[in-house]
Amino acid sequence: KQKTMILSGLLFPALWGLALGGSPSVQIGGLFPRGADQEYSAFRIGMVQFGTVEFRLTPHIDNLEVANSFAITNCFCSQFSRGVYAIFGFYDKKSVNTITSFCETLHVSFITPSFPADGLNQFVLQMRPDIKGPLISLVEYYKWEKFAYLYDSDRGLSTLQAVLDTAAERKWQVTAINVGNLKDEWKDEAYRSLFQDLENKKERRVILDCEQDKVKDIMEQVITIGRHVKGYHYIIANFGFVDGDLSKIQYGGANVSGFQIVDFDDPLVAKFDQRWEALEEKEYPGADSRIRYTSALTYDAVQVMTEAFRLLHKQRIDISRRGNNGDCLANPAVPWAQGLEIERALKQVRVDGLTGNIQFDQYGRRVNYTVNVMELKNSGPVKIGYWNEMDKMVVTKSDLFPNDTMGMENKTVVVTTILEAPYVMLKKNAELFTDNERYEGYCVDLAAEIAKHCGFKYQLRIVADGKYGARDAETKIWNGMVGELVYGAYVCHLTNSFSFHC
Ligand SMILES: *[C@@H]1O[C@H](CO)[C@@H](O)[C@H](O)[C@H]1NC(C)=O
Ligand SMILES: *[C@@H]1O[C@H](CO)[C@@H](O)[C@H](O)[C@H]1NC(C)=O
Ligand SMILES: *[C@@H]1O[C@H](CO)[C@@H](O)[C@H](O)[C@H]1NC(C)=O
Ligand SMILES: *[C@@H]1O[C@H](CO)[C@@H](O)[C@H](O)[C@H]1NC(C)=O
Repeated sequence: KQKTMILSGLLFPALWGLALGGSPSVQIGGLFPRGADQEYSAFRIGMVQFGTVEFRLTPHIDNLEVANSFAITNCFCSQFSRGVYAIFGFYDKKSVNTITSFCETLHVSFITPSFPADGLNQFVLQMRPDIKGPLISLVEYYKWEKFAYLYDSDRGLSTLQAVLDTAAERKWQVTAINVGNLKDEWKDEAYRSLFQDLENKKERRVILDCEQDKVKDIMEQVITIGRHVKGYHYIIANFGFVDGDLSKIQYGGANVSGFQIVDFDDPLVAKFDQRWEALEEKEYPGADSRIRYTSALTYDAVQVMTEAFRLLHKQRIDISRRGNNGDCLANPAVPWAQGLEIERALKQVRVDGLTGNIQFDQYGRRVNYTVNVMELKNSGPVKIGYWNEMDKMVVTKSDLFPNDTMGMENKTVVVTTILEAPYVMLKKNAELFTDNERYEGYCVDLAAEIAKHCGFKYQLRIVADGKYGARDAETKIWNGMVGELVYGAYVCHLTNSFSFHC
């Protein structure tokens, strides 16, 4: 390792680029995928937050399609030739290898909130912790021995591999299904038929190993066919349990569990959240909704980079790109001699961020992190415990349903249903009545009873399309119709009894 101490104060400004009123500025690159608006806003806020008069980062940003490795190569190389000291950015399955090999070859550090890359990559700093440990602990906690595992192959296969390895060891029966390759125009039907197949196999415990946008698409179809009710259990395998809108499944009765890395009860996060809420959406797109975990990882990445360069700056370590003309496709490749110093400094950073304690191992992987384990209750997402490498899963609160009915009181709930005798029928003299009074039938009475019992108001709304309003022969659960009652305010199992949550 090469280490050059700068002794002359004269050299110093040249190496650190004295810009704007004397505060040293370090050029860094940024690669953002299209649509990552909130992440980019979080990045900019981080720049403001962590920059001081004494020291700041100057970003060069490119927006691109991260699945396109040609575009990635172009942006990476143009930033490299501009002389950036490190690059922050995202990748996907198609571009991860391009990025990691450029980093290895040129000794450029890449800081990313994307899914952890497989293998050991010296120059990649993974902001996102590994989910394998928490996920396997949770499956063990629920004592699942047979379940379906839906994974998005676009996020790599290492979690799948770990789940299957553990399954082989513990004799779990796992049905693994790739949901990463479904064509967009067919996906809704594909999800419905997938869950129908699972139903035929009596697979009612499902792990969804994908990002929130895909979870949302899948859960919408799950609700459509009435599989969001009691008797089903879903584990969402990402770190943003509260990022998605779970309100539609909240009252369905299905168990839903997952992980949350941004703890909004943490004082540091609460303080950030206050500032975040005050931002103008126009100026900071995505600031109108709560910060997602990928944006939190982005913000934390800015802090990590700032800390690393501040440290190098303080130690007066020369990180200038001498002996490298910035040609990333040079043959033979010329690694950047000082790149190792930067890589070392980045991995030494230890700070408290929005995603908790931030610390890395020698391969740039997060260590000593904690994630909250969450369950969806009728009152919303609730933390039931946490997971860390030392203690594994620690349950702090289980099966408490504190003041569950509170949330429903004084709310008007829309009950979507279809006309189907004898469950929901239009009264013969319906024109004499308004609103709910126009209808009669078993489900109408049931809705009235439950609403009275739970203390919520409701409004019946008839949907024209009764396509999914059929009763499942096996589960006796109404799809669409009662399955949709209040998008799950309760469930009408039209056997001889009914069960509901409110
Ligand atoms: C859902 O959770 C309840 C309470 O923890 C449990 O009794 C039930 O078996 C779970 N359902 C499934 C399908 O795992
Ligand atoms: C792990 O992180 C905690 C802070 O969250 C810190 O107190 C502790 O020293 C760390 N452990 C190690 C081994 O670095
Ligand atoms: C339920 O609400 C009441 C009054 O708001 C409160 O006193 C009680 O502690 C709550 N119970 C739980 C379990 O949170
Ligand atoms: C519901 O409304 C009634 C009357 O409008 C009010 O007295 C009561 O406090 C409300 N309950 C809740 C939980 O807001």
